[in-house]
Amino acid sequence: MKKSLFVGFVMLLVSLLMVPVVVAEMPGSDADALWSYITKDSPYQQWSFWPDHQGMQNGRAPHGPKHKVYVNDKALVANTPPLEYGAIQVKENFNMAGELKAITVMYKIKDYNPNDGDWFWVKYSPDGKVAKAGKPAGCIGCHGTRAKNDFVLVHDIK
Ligand code: HEC
Repeated sequence: MKKSLFVGFVMLLVSLLMVPVVVAEMPGSDADALWSYITKDSPYQQWSFWPDHQGMQNGRAPHGPKHKVYVNDKALVANTPPLEYGAIQVKENFNMAGELKAITVMYKIKDYNPNDGDWFWVKYSPDGKVAKAGKPAGCIGCHGTRAKNDFVLVHDIK
């Protein structure tokens, strides 16, 4: 009796330890999966801002006159470029009236595009439709002017 209780206890313990920790896996270079990740698994509006780029900011073409840039913890911890793999920046782009017009995202994926900082670039409509995704020459051309800052424009990584 005692022994079977003990065995039962050990089996319970083992099964508890085997329960997988529920952590949402990060998506690959898939714009729809990334949208689902940043809106459902890890909602980006609960992330942080760069310390020197908080909340609504004025912006330049082509992104729209106003924006907010949210960054996840993997981006935030960086104190020297490049950012860690898994780093994500989500930029909400607004018109002058403050209406959300587009969401542009940079997501750092290991070995995705080593020549240009391994960033996966996506432009979404406000409801998550993919307008551009992958390695668009436009995104890389502009942001590439700051390749030494890991293609990030709104914040100096240091
Ligand atoms: C014509 C130049 C230009 C192009 C093209 C461009 N960007 Fe940007 N991007 C900027 C500028 C300038 C900023 C700084 C914020 C601002 O002024 O709006 C910025 C900021 C960002 C940010 C905030 C983080 C950061 O790096 O500062 C993201 C995310 C972003 N862009 C994504 C994209 C994506 C995705 C594309 C392609 C679909 C793209 N950008 C194309 C100029 C450009």
